[in-house]
Amino acid sequence: MCYNHGVIAPPLSTILAGVPLQTPLVAAAGTAGTVDELGDVIDLRLLGAVTTKSITQEPRDGNAPWRIIPVRGGMLNAIGLANKGLARFLEEELPRVRALPCKVFASVAGHSEADYVAVAGALDATGEFPIIELNLSCPNTGTGRHFGSDAASVRGILAAVRPAVQRSKLFVKLAPDLADPVATCAAAIDGGAQGLTLCNTMPALAIDVRTRRPRLSRGSGGLSGPAIHPIAVRVIHEVYRGVARDARVPIIGTGGVVHWEDAAELLLAGATAVGIGTLLFIDHSAVRRIVRGLDRWCADQGVQSVGELVGAVQT
Ligand SMILES: Cc1cc2nc3c(=O)[nH]c(=O)nc-3n(C[C@H](O)[C@H](O)[C@H](O)COP(=O)(O)O)c2cc1C
Repeated sequence: MCYNHGVIAPPLSTILAGVPLQTPLVAAAGTAGTVDELGDVIDLRLLGAVTTKSITQEPRDGNAPWRIIPVRGGMLNAIGLANKGLARFLEEELPRVRALPCKVFASVAGHSEADYVAVAGALDATGEFPIIELNLSCPNTGTGRHFGSDAASVRGILAAVRPAVQRSKLFVKLAPDLADPVATCAAAIDGGAQGLTLCNTMPALAIDVRTRRPRLSRGSGGLSGPAIHPIAVRVIHEVYRGVARDARVPIIGTGGVVHWEDAAELLLAGATAVGIGTLLFIDHSAVRRIVRGLDRWCADQGVQSVGELVGAVQT
């Protein structure tokens, strides 16, 4: 076990877009509280980073209940980007960011290009976030997927946001059901994205057969958890081979990680870091299990660093 006195040494320490991480594990946006709430139940030194809840310019209440329900193979949510808005985030949360024993990545969402520019620019100016992730793929708001639906829309939003982000590395987070994930990611990279987060939740619907109504108040929602894992593996593999490897643009692979083997699969498919979301609602001891499992896997595979296994699937 490499974990010793709070310092994670090789083989699990890694570099993501030039940002050193203690481990390749990243708490996914919206599943770790706003910033540091997860620290009450998980030793955050086991994570490379925590991603904030997506931050919007104005405060948002989100959708009415029910907005999270369990389904077979995972969870369906339609939170609708509930968050306290940029001004209160900066006032109330920023001091807590500095105290965390892992990196904090900022997630940004909006309804217009101007929203994204304002929020990403303000967060970048703090100098506290090594990575800013543009959420271009939220299925639970009217415009949530508008900016990330294809190559042209991704090119447009990056043309607006790119100049506003100078200090942080700029990542874009995309959906698992893009018609052409390679072309869309190629457009992101052309537009100046320095990393990709693949994937957000999968649009899905659950119906209460007694009331004959959708189980979520909003109707459809986003599916996460084990059910989407093989989809994430496929998208990451395609994008890595199709564009990201040659462009040397790293991927945070996210989708349905429960066991260390799931994280290992995402790494082999081409992810440099691994997002963990739904699992954080279910099993707080899981992060330690995954760190231990990956550590042993690196030894079994005879590598000095987990980075040697990125994209190393034999096809
Ligand atoms: C309750 C919940 C809230 C989420 N909120 C956000 C969010 O604010 N921003 C975002 O980019 N992704 C959000 N996501 C998506 C996750 O970050 C992640 O991409 C997705 O759940 C897939 O990973 P998983 O299968 O490990 O959960 C949310 C997911 C869940 C389950």
